[in-house]
Amino acid sequence: MSAPLTRLPEWQALTAHRDALAGRTLADLFAADPARADRLGLEGAGLFADFSKQRVTEETLRLLLDLARARDVTGRRDAMFAGEAINVTENRAVLHVALRAPKGATILHEGENVVPAVHDVLERMADFADALREGRWRGHSGARIRNVVSIGIGGSDLGPVMAYEALRGFSRRDMVFRFVSNVDGSDLAEALHDLDPAETLFIVCSKTFTTLETLTNAHAAREWCLAALGDDTAIARHFAAVSTNESEVRKFGIEPAQMFGFWDWVGGRYSMDSAVGLSTMIAVGPENFAAMLAGFHAMDDHFRTAPPERNLPLIMGLIGVWNSNFLGAETVAVLPYAQYLSRFPAYLQQLTMESNGKGVTLSGAPVDHDTGAIFWGEPGTNGQHSFYQLLHQGTRLVPCDFIGFCEPLSARADQHDLLMANMFAQGEALAFGRSADDLRAGGTPEWLIPHRLCPGNRPSTTILAQRLDPGTLGALVALYEHCVFTQGAIWGIDSFDQWGVELGKQLATRIIDEIRLGEAGGHDPSTDALIRRYLAGKAR
Ligand code: F6P
Repeated sequence: MSAPLTRLPEWQALTAHRDALAGRTLADLFAADPARADRLGLEGAGLFADFSKQRVTEETLRLLLDLARARDVTGRRDAMFAGEAINVTENRAVLHVALRAPKGATILHEGENVVPAVHDVLERMADFADALREGRWRGHSGARIRNVVSIGIGGSDLGPVMAYEALRGFSRRDMVFRFVSNVDGSDLAEALHDLDPAETLFIVCSKTFTTLETLTNAHAAREWCLAALGDDTAIARHFAAVSTNESEVRKFGIEPAQMFGFWDWVGGRYSMDSAVGLSTMIAVGPENFAAMLAGFHAMDDHFRTAPPERNLPLIMGLIGVWNSNFLGAETVAVLPYAQYLSRFPAYLQQLTMESNGKGVTLSGAPVDHDTGAIFWGEPGTNGQHSFYQLLHQGTRLVPCDFIGFCEPLSARADQHDLLMANMFAQGEALAFGRSADDLRAGGTPEWLIPHRLCPGNRPSTTILAQRLDPGTLGALVALYEHCVFTQGAIWGIDSFDQWGVELGKQLATRIIDEIRLGEAGGHDPSTDALIRRYLAGKAR
């Protein structure tokens, strides 16, 4: 991995191939090879992905796989599964795959099999979840716990809230689940405004248990509880913690019996299948949680064992590299045609952008190529009535990931057909557009043709699965995790650190002191002036 990426012959071969392909549209590629839809569809862990509407040929994939070989992507993958410290800047192993390994499996970290410890925590979580779901775990006053409020941020929030929304159809309907993340006090206030403290359990979720937002909200929740329930002993019945930091959890006043641990080899954004998923398990039950883990594991197995040319996350990751680095796409739109996946794009934003938003290689040298794309999105069909205009006719290339399911989860099967018809239509419209000749034939006046023309040739992947159940969700998340891994390995960056978030946190700590003292100074003139204006406004 010593030569800069863009000087590798494999990279240069891709550049030359891109130039040779220039001018060949998706319509041309399909005309030349109508069977590409069959050959460019891959299956793994119950997911099917159609890559035929990507601007690739089999030659493109062959060259991308050459690049993957040159970057030793599979070797790096094996190093991850073997528990090597591939997170080099933090000198940590990256073993989220151990969180979903079956009970009898062996995954070593520093010579020790971590799978039994993972299952110990899962069993404790299941006992606690069952006790809550069955009403055996009571609040301080003896009242049944009906509300679960999860407090966390980033990886300690986005996974749980996304999974709760995704699996709502499988969740307890007689319990209320809320998620508080923002340090903006209105987030907690809104979550609590109609809840009875006697019936409410808080799960404070923080890997470090030092995160400003989470600790601030947790202390405020504690006060809210104490104000209603009277004494400190109430906290034991109304608070649980998920963390790697036992001493801070104790300091907060949560007993080890209500603490569910995980390990420093689990990155925050890779943790929804660890104890961080406690709220998910309470909502959907231990069996469904286990099914979700099995879905994750099935995709892990596929990633680890499928041949490169049939390997879904590997190929999807490589196509992302092609779109970003060779076709110049800056973003990826994630468009789930499933309202239950409404928080999936937000979840993917952290997974992809905190992982691959890096500007230096593993050795600290500046990269000589673009890295992680900007991920964003909204469920279809809502997005169609909002930003799809730009996707179809705007000047920017926005590759899209469509995600859909064959079976509806609601009884309204007709509406599901409408939903899916829209998803298929969008992929078709983006790829093949609408020509001037078609418009003319349909009677569009000449002056209006440029406005109505859809140029097409806009790439998309369509992921289709049977139904959005816990197993499918696990497989889907693992698919994107391993895509991120593949891309990070190609780019030669550390996908598992997040140093970029430090500076803002440090500055905020300094500024909060200044705000409390009522005087700003020592920043740049703009920041100083803004703080002073804020102080003046606050004093009004
Ligand atoms: O903002 C960065 C970050 O460290 C994320 O990586 C992490 O998921 C989040 O903060 C929350 O951290 P914690 O779980 O330690 O509270």
